[in-house]
Amino acid sequence: MESFDYHQAAEMLARQVELGATEAICDAPVNRYEVPASPPKASAKIGKGPQPLQASETPDPVALARRAARGAQTLEELRAAVQGFEHCELHKGARNLVFADGVPGAPLMIFGEAPDRDEDRAGKPFVGRTGQMLDRMLAAIDMGRDRNVYLSNILPWRTPQGRDPKPDEIAMMRPFVQRHIELAKPKVLVLFGNWSCQSLLEKRSIMRLRGNWTKAADLSCMPMVHPGYLLRNPEAKREAWADLLSVQANLRDG
Ligand code: URA
Repeated sequence: MESFDYHQAAEMLARQVELGATEAICDAPVNRYEVPASPPKASAKIGKGPQPLQASETPDPVALARRAARGAQTLEELRAAVQGFEHCELHKGARNLVFADGVPGAPLMIFGEAPDRDEDRAGKPFVGRTGQMLDRMLAAIDMGRDRNVYLSNILPWRTPQGRDPKPDEIAMMRPFVQRHIELAKPKVLVLFGNWSCQSLLEKRSIMRLRGNWTKAADLSCMPMVHPGYLLRNPEAKREAWADLLSVQANLRDG
């Protein structure tokens, strides 16, 4: 039988899902009405073999992430700490870690949500169509990732099929996001979309949050609609433009 690596198999499965497949079936039919054979007797195992972990022994991934993030003294060390963090399942399905792009130490730091397919391939945030949209938005206020902007995401790995991030994934990567801000030392933060607001503001209603200055990680922070949303809803560009001008003014005067 032909064998596939993880990424080939994942792409083939994604294609099936796009074509409408909702269920995986086997070569041979399964009789779902068959009465199952009697379950193994629990008593036979008592006292033998490894016992399940007690709740108190289960490692808490958030605490482990906090410890790993605190140990990083530079952005390079932080990247290595994220790369080595194996408690978030997302890293198993991703091709690449997507850590950051732009100018570390720039006055503006932007957080997106999670890498898409293009970013997962390139290992850099915002390189696909959404990234081109973002670059045009920044150019309109005379800024750019080549000069005065630093970019990252609240999740460094693509989610399976680009699904929404789960609360536990956001929570376990949050200590790295917070340390990232401490080490990059921006003056102002922009948070794109609901999930980055969930990570840094613990709120998730971008349409109410956008356009209003708030504080995150002790910094001035502007929540904005995601550039991907603007691609699908061009009528929202007018408000995004007002938010961008407010960011520009804050950086100039603030
Ligand atoms: N969307 C994001 O939120 N981040 C990326 O890096 C790309 C698309």
